[in-house]
Amino acid sequence: MCGIVGYIGKKDINKILLDGLKELEYRGYDSAGIATMSDGEFKEYKAVGKIKNLEKKIYQTSETKNNTDKSSTGIGHTRWATHGKPTELNAHPHLGDYSYVVHNGIIENYKELKDELIQVGKKFVSQTDTEVIVHLFEYYFDKLNDSKKAFDATISRLQGAYSILLITQAQPDKIYFIKLGSPLAIATCSDGEYYIASSQSPLIGLANSVTYLEDGISGVVYENKVEFFEKNKRVTNDIKWQDLPISKLSAQKDGFRFFMEKETYEQSSVIVDTMMGRIKDDEIVFDEFDSDFLKNIDGVLISACGTSYHAGLTGSYLFERLSKIRTQVEVASEFRYKQPLLSNKTLFIAISQSGETADTIEALKMAKKAGLKTVVVCNVDNSSMTRVADVTILLRAGIEKGVASTKAFSTQVTVLWMLSLYIGKQIKTISNKLLKSEIKALRETPKYLIIDENIHQKCQRLSKRYLHGDGFFFIGRDVFYPLSLEGALKLKEISYIHAQGYPAGEMKHGPIALADEKLFTIALMPKGLLYEKTKSNVQELIARDSVVLSISPISFKLADDFIKTKDSEHYMHEFFEMLVVLQLFSMEVAIRLGNDVDMPRNLAKSVTVE
Ligand code: M6R
Repeated sequence: MCGIVGYIGKKDINKILLDGLKELEYRGYDSAGIATMSDGEFKEYKAVGKIKNLEKKIYQTSETKNNTDKSSTGIGHTRWATHGKPTELNAHPHLGDYSYVVHNGIIENYKELKDELIQVGKKFVSQTDTEVIVHLFEYYFDKLNDSKKAFDATISRLQGAYSILLITQAQPDKIYFIKLGSPLAIATCSDGEYYIASSQSPLIGLANSVTYLEDGISGVVYENKVEFFEKNKRVTNDIKWQDLPISKLSAQKDGFRFFMEKETYEQSSVIVDTMMGRIKDDEIVFDEFDSDFLKNIDGVLISACGTSYHAGLTGSYLFERLSKIRTQVEVASEFRYKQPLLSNKTLFIAISQSGETADTIEALKMAKKAGLKTVVVCNVDNSSMTRVADVTILLRAGIEKGVASTKAFSTQVTVLWMLSLYIGKQIKTISNKLLKSEIKALRETPKYLIIDENIHQKCQRLSKRYLHGDGFFFIGRDVFYPLSLEGALKLKEISYIHAQGYPAGEMKHGPIALADEKLFTIALMPKGLLYEKTKSNVQELIARDSVVLSISPISFKLADDFIKTKDSEHYMHEFFEMLVVLQLFSMEVAIRLGNDVDMPRNLAKSVTVE
């Protein structure tokens, strides 16, 4: 949640900070702001809403318009509100008397600190937890007259997970930073300038060398130099610098209307990357595992949030069916507080696109602490989860920018499908015959993710009809049940229409009471899995006047609308084809409603608060 940028150097600082914030905007867009410093003097700009509002404000002043602003040090932030409403007063950077701070994450003990600071005369203007940081810093600076010591004293008082940048008139031309539980990277280039950001995308194209900070690392960035500290001791050797990719091309929209649309269309090609090198002849190969890693494993426990949870739920059907291993799936925010009984013979799998979801990180840490072998299935290398888990399996989906997750889900399911086969082979529960036929099906999967333009156009047409009504049920059986959950989540998060995924067979145990002509049902009716059973459940709804859109390779005359998918031998092919239909359908409904598909209200791409 939220995004941070910082810069020290001689280039156009307003442009660099703004461009960086635009790259991070998908992480939160309630408000944004920057603070820059030139010859010890501050300039501050803040705006509610998207970065374009901030940009307008910045370029209203003559200095910025004529590019005569000589500021050389600056920090910026795009916010997803946690404490306090999305107002300018609550927007970062937060000012004390002579310092500014930006912050990602949460300061858990901010109330106590605030009370303490109010008692010594500090005045607060915002409702945020962040503001305590800047007042605390100045409180210590006034006592110690040393900004490094004051920064250290400040961070020693903070509880929670955070990354922070701070600039101060007390020592201009420096940026103080700390990373603890929320990502932060520092990058540099041959000019010796320094760029700081909470993820790598703002750094690409500007810098060529980057370090992703470990938890507990703080430091100071100067013009031409950076110093790192851990618990007040200077660290040098442990800081690993690596090359940054040089092209931003993959992160652009390529002529699609929205990133979500582009990412939906990309799925067929990215799952080829996901599988690359992992299928050899009739074997699944995961070089990520040591040969005895899965020895003695007698169960799998998957934990994740949102779309990643739906991938996990899909995976649980595949694990039990194909590798015959007992599999449990837990929503991470529930798992971490339920005091679960954990066995170290269980393989723990965290699933996360970003690798930064706070609840999933905690679930992973709990499992690791309890002695379980841990794996993360993740799209972002060098993310927090990849640093905790014993084994990382990367999705290779490329940057996913749309808040509504698409290609992360299809690649997650692909990895879990491959993992179920790999584990089955390792623990000798899958026959060679089944393994071979599943691998054949896996290899054929990319073609089921190629988008049929007729289906896309049909979704466009249908979106008109399905705008009204009291809400949606998405129903399916077996793996089509988690798919129905995913379809409903897609629709609600970008169209803001109420939608619920449900097991088709459960409707008659209560929800069918809602059925009438204002209730829309999206029925997932695969040919290859429990077709007749699902059909009976759909008929029960039709008999009660629900408007039904059937998605199936088999034409179903009783339904009000019908999207015909391809015939296939394998139910997972039907799964992936229906997934695309659901993604396109929800996107077209949201577009017709005029919503911002890539940045839906109240959401953020990466949820780094619990
Ligand atoms: O980065 P993660 O996969 O851990 O994120 C988990 C959820 O926040 C995420 O999948 C969310 O549900 C998506 N916006 C859904 O499209």
